[in-house]
Amino acid sequence: MSLSAALFSLLLTTTLLIFMQNLVIDAACSDCFVSSQATYYPNSDEHGTDVGACGFGSFGATINGGDVSAASNLYRDGLGCGACYQVRCTNSAYCSDKGVTIVITDQGSGPGTDFILSKRAFSHMAQTSDAAATLLAYGVVDIQYRRVSCSYPYKNITIKIHEGSSNPNYLAFVIEYQQGKRDITAVQLCETQNFVCKLLSRSFGTVWTVNSPPSGPLSVRMLFSDEDGEDTWVVPVNNIPADWKAGESYDSGVQVNQ
Ligand SMILES: *[C@@H]1O[C@H](CO)[C@@H](O)[C@H](O)[C@H]1NC(C)=O
Repeated sequence: MSLSAALFSLLLTTTLLIFMQNLVIDAACSDCFVSSQATYYPNSDEHGTDVGACGFGSFGATINGGDVSAASNLYRDGLGCGACYQVRCTNSAYCSDKGVTIVITDQGSGPGTDFILSKRAFSHMAQTSDAAATLLAYGVVDIQYRRVSCSYPYKNITIKIHEGSSNPNYLAFVIEYQQGKRDITAVQLCETQNFVCKLLSRSFGTVWTVNSPPSGPLSVRMLFSDEDGEDTWVVPVNNIPADWKAGESYDSGVQVNQ
């Protein structure tokens, strides 16, 4: 009787230990690499794209030095726009350990691929330029990827007013230099005089729009959400002036580095 009780308690302890170990592994795994495949835009030049589905416009061509990518599932209806991933190919004869850090600027999928990289980013996974030529010739390569923090040293988050906007009837903008590892899940536009706020809708990609925006100087508040569902409203230091103009960029005065 007491032997079976001892055995039972041993079993329980072991089960508990295994369970706790799994918890630790799960917790560490937001940093784990996921296996997939990547290809590249065959006719892309050395840059990013100014026509990507994220709506970044000309910013999309130069962001991150042109190390950008289209995502299929990771596009997440536009929520994935601006997210950064470390992508490394796995053929140790040609590929570097570090790979390349890319920013999602577009949506697209090839057969079995999670990423369609710019040619430049694809080449940056290689150890040497000869190795890059070999990788390019393969066209599709096995990769591993993981979400990483976006880093734009010396840049604040910037609000770029979309060219199609028209003061005072219609305001559309894109959030540039999204930093850190979290998603922007909501945006509020607040009057700075009496703090009436309007929740904006994501029109497509990373483009936020509002009809009849509030008047006066405006504060663009961004809700940053991490993978555990932790939400933080980021309030900009600088406002958008009342006479905001289509095509202009306004510095929010804040950086978000986690
Ligand atoms: C970022 O905003 C701060 C004010 O919060 C400002 O002092 C700084 O110059 C800005 N940095 C850049 C690169 O614009």
